[in-house]
Amino acid sequence: MKVLVLHGPNLNLLGQREPEIYGHRTLDQINEEIEVLGSQLGLQIDFFQSNQEGLLIDRIHRAHGVYEWIVFNPGALSHYSYALRDAITAVGIPTIEVHLSNIQAREPFRSHSVIAPVCVGQVSGFGTASYLLALYAIFEQVGRGK
Ligand code: DQA
Repeated sequence: MKVLVLHGPNLNLLGQREPEIYGHRTLDQINEEIEVLGSQLGLQIDFFQSNQEGLLIDRIHRAHGVYEWIVFNPGALSHYSYALRDAITAVGIPTIEVHLSNIQAREPFRSHSVIAPVCVGQVSGFGTASYLLALYAIFEQVGRGK
């Protein structure tokens, strides 16, 4: 089972960026934790981070026919990128939206995601564990033959 983990804008700065909100782990450390759990669950995981919407769209297009699942933290693009939303719909790959912080408990503009309605589900507010919970969700869905 191949899974593509996508990280959007500013997530390359994790570790130094607002650690009181996003924690102290760097993106590399988070990816390592995802990798470890992924291999325990039998998931083969590739990673991609970009600060550019178009590059994320291109990566989603190239995922077609290669990956069975996408785990996606679109960062601030979650709140307004109809183009990313359309890319997910276009490739038809089941996607789980992930956020480190609880987007419902912050500024009002963060509480709405335009991506969430085209995703299987959303995990928000558990730091690194948001990504790990998404992997468990994939493992569970696959076990049910989905
Ligand atoms: C975020 C939440 C977004 O609102 C914010 O713009 C981010 C990170 C999160 O993981 O909590 O860049 O996606």
